Amino acid sequence: MADITVTEHLLLHQKMTPQATGMFTGLLYDLILSGKTISRRINQAGLLDILGGTGEVNVQGENVQKMDAIANRILIYRMERSGAVCAMASEEEPELIRVGPEFPRGDYILIFDPLDGSSNIDVNVDVGTIFSLHRRAHGATGEVSLEEVLKPGTEQVAAGYILYGPSTMLVLSTGQGVHGFTLDPGVGEFLLSHPDIRIPEQGYIYSVNEGYREQWDAPAREAVEWFHTAKSSKGGAYSSRYVGSLVADFHRTLLYGGIYLYPPYSGKPDGKLRLMCEASPLAFLAEQAGGKASDGHGRILERVPATLHARTPLYIGSSRDVEAVETIYARHKNR
Ligand code: AHG
Ligand code: MN
Ligand code: MN
Repeated sequence: MADITVTEHLLLHQKMTPQATGMFTGLLYDLILSGKTISRRINQAGLLDILGGTGEVNVQGENVQKMDAIANRILIYRMERSGAVCAMASEEEPELIRVGPEFPRGDYILIFDPLDGSSNIDVNVDVGTIFSLHRRAHGATGEVSLEEVLKPGTEQVAAGYILYGPSTMLVLSTGQGVHGFTLDPGVGEFLLSHPDIRIPEQGYIYSVNEGYREQWDAPAREAVEWFHTAKSSKGGAYSSRYVGSLVADFHRTLLYGGIYLYPPYSGKPDGKLRLMCEASPLAFLAEQAGGKASDGHGRILERVPATLHARTPLYIGSSRDVEAVETIYARHKNR
């Protein structure tokens, strides 16, 4: 395969990708540079004193790992200087980050989980950065309001993630399918390795933290029981896999098919995962790859966030596997 970089790929598809403007490609360049910087720090984490926690608790009520804080700082520093962004929201920041007036303001709103799966980093298991891009309404100027950011995922213009695994990968969609790029560390570029990724219609793996089974709602318990007994795409039983880094579990689901589930549990009717920086961008990718993403009742992409850190249950992956869960939720609703 010819070595096609992300920028080349965008330019090749420019006619079909209206957002492939100079500002957008510039934004991606800076996002990729941030990803490469984070990747390098993660590779060195065991050698430098950057494993473990900072001793702080974030806005989500979770322990902040040192690498969470480092990845967050790298992204904010780089992206507020990019000239392409007018506001940012990070999983690690309680408030909206407004760009300007000290830096030039661009058209895009960037929402990110700087490091997903960070509790896995001390044991050298895959983590990633998840991002979502919205474009500010044409003609809007001045400081960005919160209302401008609290938009449903249907309005995303691009979404993706950088997975720091055995190799570092960028998986991206600008609304023209999903494409995967692998970092060639010698060249320092992400090269097209997985063009036009499609999720199989049905899979053979379900992925969920079954430790919380007793706390799930009844439809989720029934759904997982269904995967215990149903026939998979291979004709036999479904297998179970759970990395515990959403980004890695989703990456496997995207390539092999199957389903990832994070149900609501007692006291947490919206589950754990964040709508804007985790569920929505991955839902955008799932749908672009021919799969589905649901909260049990409907499309994740149509959920309107009430706050920056709103949460949602998540059922995502192969269309038939997600539909099986939705059918169970619908049956419970009609009882
Ligand atoms: P983060 O590291 O960004 O806080 O996200 C952690 C999330 C997600 O990566 C993962 O799928 C999930 O937490 C695992 O949660 P459980 O330990 O509850 O299964
Ligand atoms: Mn996360
Ligand atoms: Mn995180």
